[in-house]
Amino acid sequence: MPEIVKLAKPSEKDLTELREIFFESSTRKDFADEADKDHFFFKYVGVYLKHFPEYLWVAREGRILGYMIGAPVTDETELHRVQPHLQIFQKHFTDYPAHLHVNFHPDARGMGLGSKLFSQLEKQFQEAGIRGVHIMTGPDSRNKIFYQRLGFDFEVVLDFRGSPILLMGKRL
Ligand SMILES: CC(C)(COP(=O)(O)OP(=O)(O)OC[C@H]1O[C@@H](n2cnc3c(N)ncnc32)[C@H](O)[C@@H]1OP(=O)(O)O)[C@@H](O)C(=O)NCCC(=O)NCCS
Repeated sequence: MPEIVKLAKPSEKDLTELREIFFESSTRKDFADEADKDHFFFKYVGVYLKHFPEYLWVAREGRILGYMIGAPVTDETELHRVQPHLQIFQKHFTDYPAHLHVNFHPDARGMGLGSKLFSQLEKQFQEAGIRGVHIMTGPDSRNKIFYQRLGFDFEVVLDFRGSPILLMGKRL
């Protein structure tokens, strides 16, 4: 049975496994070189680990099966600089200040583990007095149903450099 763990200090092995899941799940597959790949990993994972390491949760069974990492605030953080698409949603960060990012290994999807990670992170946000959380995804993405079932009932789509981005929010 997989365990759900808060990883305050991920080991090198943890980070290697997390990185594998991230790149496996990412739609972007082409990188100019290792530095380009490292930058992409920092943009979507490393920046959270750097500023908010206490918000990393994983499902693990021998190895990491999936991870969820949060940022309790979005405004005026380095996230804004490295993820410029966040800026177009600025006005929604009053109601939905926290942000999260999640991915599972393909063999571990659809087993309810993502929902379990969210329960833990949600409780942690609530205990910290945070009143809302948002995610960003594609408007036609399969994972939209996953978030709807978790109670993300606010949706807004905005265009960023010619591509639509969906923000989904949940009040806590
Ligand atoms: C989306 C994801 C994090 C959900 O975690 P999970 O543990 O699989 O989710 P649960 O088992 O708790 O819930 C199942 C729901 O997750 C979603 N899901 C399951 N497999 C999925 C997949 N391969 N791709 C996208 N969403 C998926 C579906 O909405 C599914 O409901 P359904 O079976 O009725 O279609 C996980 O499936 C995943 O990593 N998917 C691929 C990458 C991704 O979409 N990441 C999120 C980026 S915003």
